[in-house]
Amino acid sequence: MPNDSSPAPETITRLMDRPDWLFLLREFEALYRFGSAGGSRPIRSHRKKVRDTLAAIIDANPELVARAPQEKPVTAYLNRAFDKAERGAVAGLGRALSRVADKLTWEYGYEKVPKALAQKYAYCEVLGPRGPVKAERLILGFVLFAPRTTYPQHSHKEIEESYISVSGDWSENEVAVHAPGSLILNRPGDEHRITTAELEPCLLAYAWVGSEGKLADPGMKLTSTRKARMVQGI
Ligand SMILES: [Fe+2]
Repeated sequence: MPNDSSPAPETITRLMDRPDWLFLLREFEALYRFGSAGGSRPIRSHRKKVRDTLAAIIDANPELVARAPQEKPVTAYLNRAFDKAERGAVAGLGRALSRVADKLTWEYGYEKVPKALAQKYAYCEVLGPRGPVKAERLILGFVLFAPRTTYPQHSHKEIEESYISVSGDWSENEVAVHAPGSLILNRPGDEHRITTAELEPCLLAYAWVGSEGKLADPGMKLTSTRKARMVQGI
């Protein structure tokens, strides 16, 4: 006869129960462990912060919360981004992401998204306060751009951000072209604007490091056109 006082069956899903998510995070960690800092001390310290925090999170076997999968118009380019990633320097992470592609929640992050941008951009988080892998001190995700996209100028208050290209070529603040494997560090408050190549989509992995409060509520905002012009000196 069932005993009413017996404990409820374990219903929490943890990272180790879902190898596809576990290996995706291990690929992320390897990228921040073995990639180069190009001789830059701030980049070396950022890479270390990301991989050490991530290693501790993986070790703790965090909860995996189900989020409703969500597509956006730009996700029509995802397969092409995966195909191109196969031949690039970050093939392992691209392939690991493709294994959970049908579970990703693509979003805009802004209350008001410029109409043109809504067709050409979206991001998905894979680890952070909102899940799917629960963590308080780090956010990891991917941003996908259609060919020939301009992602308007913005900055992040009290959040340190890095992008690593997985597939496709892109430029930040129009000062260099970055190919798969390249890393860009945006320190808190650094204004940045992204443009992507003419013919192929661009998939970037990103990491955000900041306080628990800030990561739980990052308050994403695009910089006003007037301020953006002032910063660019035009
Ligand atoms: Fe950014």
